[in-house]
Amino acid sequence: MFSKKTIKDIDVNGKTVLVRVDYNVPMSDGEIESDIRIRASLPTIEYLISNGAKKIILISHLGRPKGERKPELSLKPVAEKLSEILDNSVINSSAVKFSSEVFGDVVKNAVAELPERGILLLENLRFFPEEEKNDAEFAKKIVEATGTEVFVQDGFAVIHRAHASTDAVTKILPSVAGFLVEKEVSVLSSAISEPEKPVLVIIGGAKVDDKKPLIEKFLPIADDICVGGKIASDGYEAEDKKILVAFDFVEDETGAKLDIGTKSTKEILEKIHFAKTIVWNGTVGLTEKEPFDLASKTIARAIGHRTDATSIICGGDTTGFVENLQKLEPELKYSLISTGGGASLELLSGLELPGLSVLQDKI
Ligand code: 3PG
Repeated sequence: MFSKKTIKDIDVNGKTVLVRVDYNVPMSDGEIESDIRIRASLPTIEYLISNGAKKIILISHLGRPKGERKPELSLKPVAEKLSEILDNSVINSSAVKFSSEVFGDVVKNAVAELPERGILLLENLRFFPEEEKNDAEFAKKIVEATGTEVFVQDGFAVIHRAHASTDAVTKILPSVAGFLVEKEVSVLSSAISEPEKPVLVIIGGAKVDDKKPLIEKFLPIADDICVGGKIASDGYEAEDKKILVAFDFVEDETGAKLDIGTKSTKEILEKIHFAKTIVWNGTVGLTEKEPFDLASKTIARAIGHRTDATSIICGGDTTGFVENLQKLEPELKYSLISTGGGASLELLSGLELPGLSVLQDKI
């Protein structure tokens, strides 16, 4: 059960609402390569508008500009994309406005000029070093300039950071969760607290140290843990008999092991067939390069057909891979394709998420 208050637990009617989203989208030459994180924020925005919120002020970061203004990391293209998406949505909102500042008179004026039910996206918060320093004064300046009365945390992917827009701001405004945060936290938490058994965890990727906390957390919970990817081909040694490490590999012409082989894949498929809870973090081969994406594709398809199980896809490389496959094969369905790489890993590893614990508890 989700223990934090959400936007459904408060009255937003007539209020100007500050919403932290995670619009840290992949960009290339000023173009947005994936709008999944933008679309993931729509249920909260739509709910706020349909329930009478007066104005919505969105805040986010993009990339890691380290406290400097970097034009290529401006959120302006994201405001344009959000406008485009909302044009086709049920709420028929006016165009999303963009402010190149995050506090001060420029923001005050932009909010004043915003029509009722209007949406304003502020510039990249990380252009200011105070954001990552969790600076209380910085958060106060944003709240004052925007005239916001309530804070909604819906940036699940950044909830593992204690920054001004995830922590300091919650000391100023009543703070509740948005629908994305509620969904991500609920589904991910269900995998570690009383999941339906059998529980299968599939782990891939390159860095074993990143995945160790996940393996340790799931050892007492999971029935099976399957390890593939570079972690396996580098010779990971299982410390428990419920861990299956891939044992055959597909090699390139130089002998590099770039995918797990058919025998290992078959064993994983059998476990997918019987599992009731499936967590997949990390592709099992070099998915950027055909044919070394084959085992990961096969696994993604098998999980995507298990609509009677809870299936969770997490980790940046895995979610991007599965989303691309799903575009071609929309019949594949998953309970959750997490928008948060680091955040989902930390939650599943049992760590406290600073941006979540500060939200108001349900009474
Ligand atoms: C992410 O993409 O994982 C989040 O937006 C957090 O970004 P960060 O790792 O730069 O804090």
